[in-house]
Amino acid sequence: MAKRLGILTSGGDCPGLNAVIRGAVLKGETVHGQEFVGFLDGWKGLIEGNAITLDRRSVRGLSSQGGTIIRTSRVGPYREPDGGAENIKKRMKQLGIDGIIAIGGEGTASASKRLFEDGVNIVGVPKTIDNDLAATDYTFGFSTAVEIATEAIDRLRTTGNSHKRCMVLEVMGRHAGWIALFSGIAGGAHAILIPEQPETIEQISEWVRSVVHRGRAPMVVVAEGFKFPDMDEAHSTKGLDGFNRPRLGGIGEVLAPLIEEHTGIETRSTVLGHIQRGGAPSAFDRVLATRLGMAVTDLIADGGWGQMVALHGTNIARVDFAEALADLKTVPPESYADYRQLFG
Ligand code: F6P
Repeated sequence: MAKRLGILTSGGDCPGLNAVIRGAVLKGETVHGQEFVGFLDGWKGLIEGNAITLDRRSVRGLSSQGGTIIRTSRVGPYREPDGGAENIKKRMKQLGIDGIIAIGGEGTASASKRLFEDGVNIVGVPKTIDNDLAATDYTFGFSTAVEIATEAIDRLRTTGNSHKRCMVLEVMGRHAGWIALFSGIAGGAHAILIPEQPETIEQISEWVRSVVHRGRAPMVVVAEGFKFPDMDEAHSTKGLDGFNRPRLGGIGEVLAPLIEEHTGIETRSTVLGHIQRGGAPSAFDRVLATRLGMAVTDLIADGGWGQMVALHGTNIARVDFAEALADLKTVPPESYADYRQLFG
């Protein structure tokens, strides 16, 4: 039975990562007699054998803390020349590690699947503020990001009203517009623009004008991955990240002058950026993350290598990595179409 486990957090950080670590260590130690180390800086720590002990003492008070105490990176486990399944197995043996708990998003799940197929004992916990993993109904971090974005909308609306300006808020969301949609609905935005659904500047300007005609200050929420119909790729001017994906961000700054040009209404843009990934997790995220952390230790106790824990409805379920990677969970067109009727 697997006794000594290594936890790592990989990819973009997310409020609730520390609560997963705490939940796993507390239940693993208490119920299953497991021991834990934390690999520092994601896969990099595993490849390089850089780990710290995680015990009951070191996870004290962690569920309310944002970020991840073991840090994260966008380094993959197959990094040349020291990565790859054989090197990782040797490293695990050297450190006396029986299995890995990889907490991460789509990139982490796909690397974990490959490692599992190459004979590494590994399980996963899904994480992303974007909420775009199909295998789980909600990911922790999403609720916190939505709260932060909603507060930003509320604040932008008061200053927008004072000046009679159109305010544009850009939020994260690479492939899926969940943060934009939920915060936009919560904050009463007049247009919500998401990666899944291109909209023309003419349509957006029409919504903005109709708000102004009612004597109100328009509020537009745009996800970083939003595209106009003539764009093949999302707006990106900052090169590639460590997983070779374009660094997004900046579409709000493109959109605001276009709205101003088409409507004559003074328009200002704000990019929320990493503020929506930082700070304390919401209570919902703390609870979800703690449950997932606890459940992953049960999964290991049952020998469930190659699987991830996930939220199905209100229950914690187990899914294969392959199943978890089958689809991205994007905003359904019919659901967007329904909300879209309220724009303007
Ligand atoms: O995947 C989560 C996410 O927050 C995306 O919404 C965003 O595109 C990306 O991470 C930003 O990552 P980084 O912090 O590495 O720039």
